[in-house]
Amino acid sequence: MKEPIVFGAPYLDDDMIAEVVACLRSGWWQAGPRVERLEAEVKRRTGAKHCVAVSSATAGIHLVLMALKIDQSTERVDEVVTSPICWASVPGAIELAGAQPVFADVDPRTGNLDPHAVAGAITPHTRAILPVHLAGRTCDMDAIMEIAQRHSIPVVEDASHAFGASWKGRATGTFGVAGVFSFNRAKNIAAAEGGAVITNDEHLASAVRLLAHGGVSRGSWERFSFARDYEVVSAGLNCKMPDLAAAMLLPQLARFEEFQTKRATLWTLYDSMLRHLPISQPPRWGERSVHAMHLYQVRLPAAIDRDQVRARMWEGGIGTGIHYRPLHQEPYYGNSLGSSLPGAEEFGRTTLSLPFSVRVTEADVLAVSQALEEALS
Ligand SMILES: Cc1ncc(COP(=O)(O)O)c(C=O)c1O
Repeated sequence: MKEPIVFGAPYLDDDMIAEVVACLRSGWWQAGPRVERLEAEVKRRTGAKHCVAVSSATAGIHLVLMALKIDQSTERVDEVVTSPICWASVPGAIELAGAQPVFADVDPRTGNLDPHAVAGAITPHTRAILPVHLAGRTCDMDAIMEIAQRHSIPVVEDASHAFGASWKGRATGTFGVAGVFSFNRAKNIAAAEGGAVITNDEHLASAVRLLAHGGVSRGSWERFSFARDYEVVSAGLNCKMPDLAAAMLLPQLARFEEFQTKRATLWTLYDSMLRHLPISQPPRWGERSVHAMHLYQVRLPAAIDRDQVRARMWEGGIGTGIHYRPLHQEPYYGNSLGSSLPGAEEFGRTTLSLPFSVRVTEADVLAVSQALEEALS
């Protein structure tokens, strides 16, 4: 049987295998020299002063919110304003850091936070704004930063989809006090799991590093390779990225520009192949912005049964994704928050992510476009 064309097939090449084998043979698998190289490379590419490689974006967001001490009040629940179009673990991290996620509505064309909705969701209890740069498209950071500055609230950017993106010439993830990338299996560069926190704030970077490294003054690489002792200086978890994950990521970073060029070619091809279909294609982005092109998401007409479209495409060997069903309508949040967010509901009902990765070929794009056309007919 022909292998299905799936929406986010991970990349693998001989350089990655060689680097992972070299890491295995080196005898050092935990956070060490490869993670240090990865952090340096992320800093170089984003212009951020500090980078802490972590075990996942979820862990990174959790650690940043803990380091910011968003949970300072004993009498009331602190709040973090975020997007309902996101992966479940982000509001989970907000809650587990001690605050209540407050979902603001999104622009139904992009799935990104609507700044007016953000402004309307701010209360005296708001401790942070957490925009999600969906699919690799940067949110309107002028508007979001203006709201944050007006209320003296920090912004933590969920840039999980947006490694390599920029907005008006500035790397996505560097607008707020911190930005967090994901390198999980489906991302533009991928380890099995992994993430990175970037910030220009030295104290925040140190606090996140301590939390990720068990609250001890020296990381394990420093302790074992240079026989140095350590002190416990804070409470901490273990959320560090291992060198094995960095070994997967470094060769991909070396080819990142090539990957992004390939994604741009596939994106343009989808744009032209799907132009005549009765669907909405991803809106263009501003001239001075770079889209990370993580997901190619179309929106189906409201009257179309999306489950049926997906099932028909899957019968033809084509896997699609939904990013995402609105979180405020999930059982865990639905009852407690109960608000209506029409933009998120429209986006969540109609969005469909098509196969999109460096493993996808131009022939695959033609096959997917044809399958979508047939499924819609
Ligand atoms: C928008 C968004 N934020 C956060 C995450 C969490 O990333 P991770 O799997 O690295 O924890 C994901 C995961 O897919 C995501 O899509």
